[in-house]
Parts: sequence; C-alpha cells; structure tokens
Amino acid sequence: MSLRRRLLALIILILPLSLLAGGLLSYFYALSVVENELTAALGLAGTTVREASSQISPSGGPEQHLARLVSTFDNDRDVGVSLVAPDGSVLRSSRPMQAVPPAPEWLKRALYAKPIIIDIPLPAEISHLGAIRLEGKADNEISEVWEEMKLQFAILAGFFALVLWLVSLTLNRALRPLDNLARALSEVRQGNFSAHVDENGPEELNIIYREFNRMAQGLQEAKHRNKLLSSQLSAVQEEERKELARDLHDEIGPFLFAVDVDAQTIPQFLERGASGEVVARAGAIRQSIAHMQGHVRAILGRLRPAQLLDLGLDQAIDQLIAFWTRRQPEVDISADIDQASYGHEIDEVAFRIVQESLNNAIRHGAPARIAIKAHAQCASNPAVLKLSIIDDGSGISPASSPGFGIEGMRERAEAVGGTLEVSPNALTSGVAVIATLPLPTGVCLCTAQPSGNNSHKTNNDTEGKGLEI
Ligand SMILES: Nc1ncnc2c1ncn2[C@@H]1O[C@H](COP(=O)(O)OP(=O)(O)O)[C@@H](O)[C@H]1O
Ligand SMILES: [Mg+2]
Repeated sequence: MSLRRRLLALIILILPLSLLAGGLLSYFYALSVVENELTAALGLAGTTVREASSQISPSGGPEQHLARLVSTFDNDRDVGVSLVAPDGSVLRSSRPMQAVPPAPEWLKRALYAKPIIIDIPLPAEISHLGAIRLEGKADNEISEVWEEMKLQFAILAGFFALVLWLVSLTLNRALRPLDNLARALSEVRQGNFSAHVDENGPEELNIIYREFNRMAQGLQEAKHRNKLLSSQLSAVQEEERKELARDLHDEIGPFLFAVDVDAQTIPQFLERGASGEVVARAGAIRQSIAHMQGHVRAILGRLRPAQLLDLGLDQAIDQLIAFWTRRQPEVDISADIDQASYGHEIDEVAFRIVQESLNNAIRHGAPARIAIKAHAQCASNPAVLKLSIIDDGSGISPASSPGFGIEGMRERAEAVGGTLEVSPNALTSGVAVIATLPLPTGVCLCTAQPSGNNSHKTNNDTEGKGLEI
C-alpha cells in the first residue's frame, strides 16, 4: 500500500474512533445535565405546589383552585403537573411545552429511560380530592442536548474533512517529485546520465534529489572521461603502431639488408678462396645481428614492460634510456636508482611514470638533460619511494592543454596510495615530475642496500647539474 493511502486510511480510521469517544463524553455529560435540570425543576415545582395547596380552604371551591394550580404549570419546560383522584385516575393535567425540534426516541430512551414521578398529597382538609402528581419532562433538555451534539459532530466531521484534504494535498505535492526521481533513475539505468530531478520538494527529500543529481552528474563526467580516454587510447595505440613500424623499417631494415648483402658475398669469397674475407663478412653479420637484438629488446621493453621488469626496475629504465638515446643522442639522460626493485607493483607504476615523463620531456620540452632519480626513504613512516624525473627543457607552456599522460601518471600513483606532482623545475627551466609511492613492507628490510647498478649513471657521462631536487 502506498504511503499516501496508508496515511489517509489512518486518518479515516481515527475519525470514527474520535466520534465514538466524543459521543460517549457527550452522553455522560448530557445524562448529568438532564438529571440536574429535572431535579431542580421538580424541587421548585414541589415547593410551589405544597405552598399553594396549603392555602386552599375546603369551603371556597377547592376543585377550581386545584384546577387553576395545575394549569399554572402549562408550558413548563421540565415539569408536568396532574391532579390525581384517590382511585388513581387522572382528573386534570397541565400541558407541558412541546420540544421543537423533537429529539430521536433512541436518545430519549438512553438519557431518560424511567420518568421521575413525585406524588404530593393534598392537605388533610382536602385530601379526599386526591393528590398532585409531578412528572419530570426531559424532552426539552434532550432536544437541546441533541442539537448541541449535532453541531459538535458537524464541526468534528468538517475538521476531519479539512485535515484529510490538507494531508492529501500536502502528500501529493511532497511526493510528486518522487515519481520524477523514479523516472530519472530509470533513465540512468538506461544509460542517460543527463537525467535531473528538480529540488523543489520538502527538505528531507531534497537531500535525496541533490545526491541523485550529483551522482548523475558524476556518472556523466565519468562517461565523458571514459570516452576521451578510449579515444586517447586508440590514438596512443595508433601512434605506437606507427612508431613500431618506423622502428622496424629504420632500425632493423638496414641491418637485414646488410646481412643479406654480406651473406651473398660469402660464396663468391669462398670460390676465390679468400677465407680472410669470409671471416670478416661473418663477423659483420654477427655485428648486425647484435644491433638488431638490441633494437628488438628495446622494442619489446616498450611493448611489454612487465617482462622487462623481471630484470629489475633499474634495468628496465636502462632499456628506456637506451631507446631514447638511440633516437635523441644529443639528450643527456641520467638515472640514479638506489634499488634494483621496490616490489613488483611499485616497479610497474614507477616504470610507467618514468616512461611517460621521458616521452613528455623529449616530445614537448626539447631538453638538453633529463635526470631520473629513485630513492627509497626507509626512515620515513610509512616508507616511501621518492621518484623524480626532471628536465631542463622549455617547461609546460601555460597555453598547453592538459592531456591524459599526466592524468594517467597521477591515477597510477594514487591507485597505489601515492601522490604525483608536476611542477616547473625550481632551478632552471623545464619540468619536475615528483612521485611519492608507499613502499610495501619488506622492501626496505630486504633490499635496503643500493643496487649500485646504474647509480648516477649518465649516458653522456656528464653530471645532471640543475636537475637535483
Ligand atoms: N616535460 C614537459 N616539457 C614541456 N611541456 C610538457 C612536459 N610535460 C607535459 N607538457 C605539456 O603538458 C601537456 C600535457 O601532457 P600530457 O598530459 O602528457 O598529454 P600529452 O603528452 O598527450 O599531450 C603536453 O601537451 C605538453 O604541452
Ligand atoms: Mg604525454
């Protein structure tokens, strides 16, 4: 059952209950009113009758006096007076006032079931004429009570009708936005995150509507971000494919050609018996193959860093540096990594941050030097890896629009409970990318000794001055 119907049913149930309670209260009140009124009226009438009858003399026509006495009670509201003969027959009666409008019989029976009758004997000298009988007449009182009851019931019913109307009106207005909320939720379920609910209900519901609107807006933004990310991802994939094709063509192609040429000349040298040349060609072929192996390893490292990371973060970063140095020999890239590994998860995040930062520096900044540093700070609580990639390039231009590379690095750092800052290089021009990544327990204890593998190594053998943090 809906909330609206439940509330209205409750109010409708209260109506008969309060009518019943009001009716009972009115009944007991009316009962005492009728009794008190009649007792007072009968007392007064009894006194009047006794006084008047005591002054009637037996010689002065007592019958007429008695008839006059009875008729003085004509039109009395509460008392009927009769002259009753000694044999019990009623000789004459007063005409009590008629109750207008008359009360229903059931009410009369309920309030005045047994009439009060008082017989007042006449004085001894005229006692042979019978007695005066007083009878309480409650019709007028009951009719008044009935009119009051009808008025009270009408007021109560009117009040309840008003309450019902107001409650149903208020509920309708308050709950109407819930229908809108249900409609909006179903829109969200169908993937339409632009759904919105007006916050024009009562405050309690407005909180829900506000939260719903925020949730829908959040979903809308997430959807938008996802869309951008996937288009960015396809662009990056496309770019990587192109790079791969270029690498294979430019780096592997010439060596394959050289191997082919060298291999073709070997039979001719053999025919001529120039064994020295054969050995020289074989040596050249091996050299070409060694070059190709180096390139293939670098390409694989870019494609599958996880595999590369099995060798350790320092080795993986070395491969990255080798990759860029082959393409940009004029850029001096140095690495100072104090441990071979910081745990698999942190290694992977650190590698991706270094990879993207190198990409950014070389592609956007045209730097002369790039310094990569990874130091485990085991004394801090919790132990963290401080990773920095600092270049002395042009720096981020204020006009540049934010891409997903920096956002992706930050998301990776935050996913492992760390932070990432990208700021201008404090000492020269350029950019400083600084990540703080919490280290898993055990990393500091087990491998606290620096690996020494590539600590302070630079590809051009120069110091990374101005690139310290
Ligand atoms: N080291 C850097 N030197 C100069 N400009 C940078 C550097 N890193 C980032 N930027 C600028 O910040 C922008 C956003 O970088 P990023 O989020 O990686 O996106 P993307 O590289 O895809 O453009 C870049 O387009 C570039 O203009
Ligand atoms: Mg980038």
